[in-house]
Amino acid sequence: MALIEQIEKENLPKHIAITMDGNGRWAEGKGKFRVFGHQHGVKSVREAVETAAEIGIKYLTLYAFSTENWNRSEREVNALMTLLISTISKETKTLMKNDICLNAIGKLSQLPKKCKQELEQAVEKTKNNKRMTLILALSYSGRWEIVNAVNKIIHDSKNNLAKEITEDTFQQYLNTKGVPDPELLIRTSGEHRISNFLLWQIAYSELYFTDTLWPDFRKEDLIKAIIDYQKRERRFGKTKAQIK
Ligand code: FPP
Repeated sequence: MALIEQIEKENLPKHIAITMDGNGRWAEGKGKFRVFGHQHGVKSVREAVETAAEIGIKYLTLYAFSTENWNRSEREVNALMTLLISTISKETKTLMKNDICLNAIGKLSQLPKKCKQELEQAVEKTKNNKRMTLILALSYSGRWEIVNAVNKIIHDSKNNLAKEITEDTFQQYLNTKGVPDPELLIRTSGEHRISNFLLWQIAYSELYFTDTLWPDFRKEDLIKAIIDYQKRERRFGKTKAQIK
């Protein structure tokens, strides 16, 4: 049986989040500059997006650039921004063809003007697409998002708009408002860390780590992660007997 056929259609995660790690090591292992790894990472991005849509995943969030990534060399940051601009611009047509809506989370005001423009245009153009939502986390960190939410609440409470805060109302102040929490979080490259990604949203996510470096991450790797997720028992604090 083909690997993809082993996926149980009735037990799909609605939302998968991926920390795409290992581009730099992949390139260095080949004696190349780190940027070479990012360039090859784009192929994996394309494949992950296509595969997720094909399987029927409704939301895919990719950690493309963290707030901490601004501390990398100017050369690497510039190369990553250029890559983002060209990829978004080139891939908008494919997103349209595949009925995929593009969105972004993070401190987008920090992005270079050209990058922001390209992103805004693609978001606007794809906004009515229904098959899947692709969310790029750009200049993103979970702590920034939470502090940002608290500041918005303070602002609204001064204007009498926010009163008592519950988990549900807090969620409305996050960048991911309206998006279900990811059931599955994948991290490539053998690192077992969260690295400030979706801190609020992953409270009950299943974590999946693979040693594969992001530029080597193929369709089969995503399918394997989903099959692994489907074998897990999600208890949400209840006992085994209560689940049954
Ligand atoms: C982490 O690898 C990867 C990044 C910081 C950038 C990810 C960006 C891409 C895959 C390209 C563009 C993305 C989109 C969505 C168009 P690393 O550099 O931290 O690798 P290392 O841990 O081996 O150093």
